[in-house]
Amino acid sequence: MEDRAYEKMNIQWFPGHMTKAQRMIEQDLKLVDAVCEILDARIPRSSRNPDIDRLAGDKPRLLILNRVDLADPAVTARWRRQFESQGYAVLETDAKSGKGVKDFVPAVRRLLQDKLKEYEAKGQTGRTLRVMILGIPNVGKSTFINKVAGRKAAIAGDKPGVTRGKQWISIDKGLDLLDTPGILWPKFESQEVGEMLAITNAIKADVLDKETLGANFMLRLREYYPQALTERYKFTPDPEANGFELLEEAAKKRGFLVSRGEYDIERMANTLLGEYHDGKLGRLSLEQPDDGSVGKGE
Ligand code: G4P
Repeated sequence: MEDRAYEKMNIQWFPGHMTKAQRMIEQDLKLVDAVCEILDARIPRSSRNPDIDRLAGDKPRLLILNRVDLADPAVTARWRRQFESQGYAVLETDAKSGKGVKDFVPAVRRLLQDKLKEYEAKGQTGRTLRVMILGIPNVGKSTFINKVAGRKAAIAGDKPGVTRGKQWISIDKGLDLLDTPGILWPKFESQEVGEMLAITNAIKADVLDKETLGANFMLRLREYYPQALTERYKFTPDPEANGFELLEEAAKKRGFLVSRGEYDIERMANTLLGEYHDGKLGRLSLEQPDDGSVGKGE
């Protein structure tokens, strides 16, 4: 975002276990036939790990756009086209309800059909395919794997940044998945990436200043989805207001009064982020593909 109204935030977050996970992934890549990266459909750019392209080399790649239930369908369709034009196989899923998940196994088989033929030519019929599942913390990896496996195969958790050890999960019909701890990258390449990760719960929002995060989020909503503010918080965002003023306006409408004439914008920031998380603002995507489309996906 180039808008000068956006407040600067200081975001640096790189726990040691992330480097370790990255090294582990580098080694484990030798064991798999394909790499499947799970992205948050609302932030397909920020939820990709920029190192994976380098690490994965020429392994066949599948991108899962997860949480499509919370993303703007028109924007998701554009992301899908963009990724497909870059040579990735793409699936759209809502792992929570299981929507789209049944297409995963056929998609992997399609992706690896040449490999399967190669194995068969060598007499290795019925060889198990191995796919590494990657994704940033809290993107829905465990939920997705559980749904694909049809049983409680991976432990789903709700703590951003908490990693689990890697494990193989056997899926019926000759397919093994390698679950990996969520990884992030050494430095957020921009403040925007950090904000996107905090808004979508990939990193704990308390490592950031919640009020500033909420204020910047308000500006983004005014720019892309002003109707969401009108519908949910019953005000038409003033084009001249800064993010804090927008928070204050919403706080007024909600009656978040601290003292006479003073409104609780911190509470409003928490409410805004919580309601976005719960899908109460509607299906809103936070990143647009660079496909030259002028529409904002409304
Ligand atoms: P992880 O392994 O990548 O760390 O993520 P995990 O599966 O634990 O999922 C993190 C949270 O995201 C879970 O919520 C899960 O239910 C939710 N989730 C996963 N996929 C989807 C999806 O496609 N749509 C929606 N709406 N949610 C999804 P939780 O921790 O139980 O609680 P909460 O985040 O719902 O509050």
